[in-house]
Amino acid sequence: MIEILTPVQVDRARRTGALVADILQTLRSRSQVGTNLLDLDRWTAEMIAAAGAESCYVDYAPSFGRGPFGHYVCTAVNDAVLHGRPHDQRLADGDLLTLDLAVRLDGIAADSAISFIVGESRPAESVELIEVTQRALAAGIAAARPGARIGDLSHAIGTVLHEAGYPINMQFGGHGIGTTMHQDPHVSNDGRPGRGYQLRPGLLLALEPWIMADTAELVTDEDGWTLRSATGCRTAHSEHTIAITEDGAEVLTLPTA
Ligand code: MF3
Ligand code: CO
Repeated sequence: MIEILTPVQVDRARRTGALVADILQTLRSRSQVGTNLLDLDRWTAEMIAAAGAESCYVDYAPSFGRGPFGHYVCTAVNDAVLHGRPHDQRLADGDLLTLDLAVRLDGIAADSAISFIVGESRPAESVELIEVTQRALAAGIAAARPGARIGDLSHAIGTVLHEAGYPINMQFGGHGIGTTMHQDPHVSNDGRPGRGYQLRPGLLLALEPWIMADTAELVTDEDGWTLRSATGCRTAHSEHTIAITEDGAEVLTLPTA
């Protein structure tokens, strides 16, 4: 199902988006050398509750995971890239951490992910992985406007990833979002321009380019959820929720401070 939101719902989505972004920034600032992933999860639960919002993750039990996710934020370290289940693990200097968060506030969901490096060191490969996903996300957003098609966004994202020399996995990508987190249309991270659903005002999309340094193959962790690169290489992921407006696209998951 593809949902087109009313102006009142889009306004709610702005508030949800700001909340998601602000929680992610707080988590980022608390992701220090020695921070435990389970503490990040607990703090997320506390911030969601304090805002009167609800988690889109804790009870989520799709076909691609084993049972309910059971946590409030995805924490993916180094070779982990998607659906990272928080574990009793402390962050180390130079770890590449991806935090992915979706919540619902007043019935409307927003979803965003950030990748960054913990501590002081700046491994060149990790810096580049992160920058490439950010550029791909920006290209996808720039292509989003009424009349554009999903394939135009996929193509814009895929072009950046290809030109940077990264293989692209087509199993997981972006998605429609609204009263629930995962909706049609699917937004692959590569595709052909001019194809697919035509965007219109009131459509909300979560765009989420992600890459692995030297492979397109994923393996599932023993926890039944965490997806890692098959080769153990590093990975990155950048995601924003956007609203299609009359004249373009508005990024909803930008921090307010
Ligand atoms: N937010 C993720 C996405 O970008 C989905 C995570 S599902 C979870 O689509 F259950 F693992 F949290
Ligand atoms: Co998403």
